[in-house]
Amino acid sequence: MTMPPAPAGFDAGIHSDDAFAQSILNGLNASKKGIDSKWLYDATGSQLFDTITELAEYYPTRTELGILRQNASSLKEFVTNGAALVELGSGSSTKTRALLNVLTGLQSYVPIDISADHLQDAADHVAREYSHLDVIPVVADFTAEITLPSALLDAPKIVFFPGSTIGNFEIDGAAQLLGRMRKMAGVAAFVVGVDLVKDADILVRAYDDPKGVTAAFNLNLLTRINRDLGADFDLSGFKHEARWVADHKRIEMHLVSQVAQDVLLLGQKIHFAAGETIHTENSHKYTPDLLERTARQQGWLVHQFWTDANSLFGVAVLTPYKG
Ligand code: SAH
Ligand code: AVI
Repeated sequence: MTMPPAPAGFDAGIHSDDAFAQSILNGLNASKKGIDSKWLYDATGSQLFDTITELAEYYPTRTELGILRQNASSLKEFVTNGAALVELGSGSSTKTRALLNVLTGLQSYVPIDISADHLQDAADHVAREYSHLDVIPVVADFTAEITLPSALLDAPKIVFFPGSTIGNFEIDGAAQLLGRMRKMAGVAAFVVGVDLVKDADILVRAYDDPKGVTAAFNLNLLTRINRDLGADFDLSGFKHEARWVADHKRIEMHLVSQVAQDVLLLGQKIHFAAGETIHTENSHKYTPDLLERTARQQGWLVHQFWTDANSLFGVAVLTPYKG
């Protein structure tokens, strides 16, 4: 069963053009230009991300999926009467199926995503495949307070945050999110996927693929700004770049201005020097130890930590620490 999209209260703010415009203006007027990576996901961005997940160079998706298929049944211990699976940044809900196939006692599935149309499509598919489940999609920005539909507030929950999407936060931001999830009522387990620190070449290739899909994903931000805010970015004047920044253990995505140029945005002239960049995404890589420390500071214990044979990716099952 699919419920209708959550009422207006559940997506307050995130779809307003004002919030987008303000965020882009602030980011492009900063001394170091940057755009919040959440804006990468309009309908085209969500589709491009799905294409990225199929690239040979982008190992995280297939690796995490393998880990989940192998271990998901051990999450049964957290499925009690009336339990809900709440997923943050659910995208196409592909990995979710590895959980839903074995956690047959779940009553509801609550995918949460900022990309509204893509979320509704994915939720419809899940609802058709798993007809016993209440599928309740919620359009929300998980960087802000998440309000669940009232019927679910006290339900027992497994929260699922795959994809290494937690890596898109700075470590402090990840800690804050872990803290907010610790305060959510009824959470028996928080299952979170993290990409692990590894050889820089493997990482850079995963974020700068030869087919140029990741470049298209990054440049789509400028298409979105042109379309939704009437800007005049010339896409041929910017190039995608993926950098490994060892000091922060993260891949950074940038759009590099190829020449000195001015862009008109909402009546403002934004100047770019040749070589100046817009920083569009951070993708932090974890060690099991960093995850354990960050989680523990926010009241979570690492109940299980699963990885693949090559230690490329990790999935942690966190449980509330009551001390
Ligand atoms: N979980 C999927 C998708 C990961 S891509 C997987 O593992 O393959 C990241 C997802 O998070 C996208 O669907 C994107 O729309 C969503 N997202 C990114 N920032 C968000 C935010 N601030 N709030 C809610 N969803 C967000
Ligand atoms: C969703 N997120 C964790 C992806 C990542 O790996 O940081 C997004 C992505 N960016 C470029 N390629 C994939």
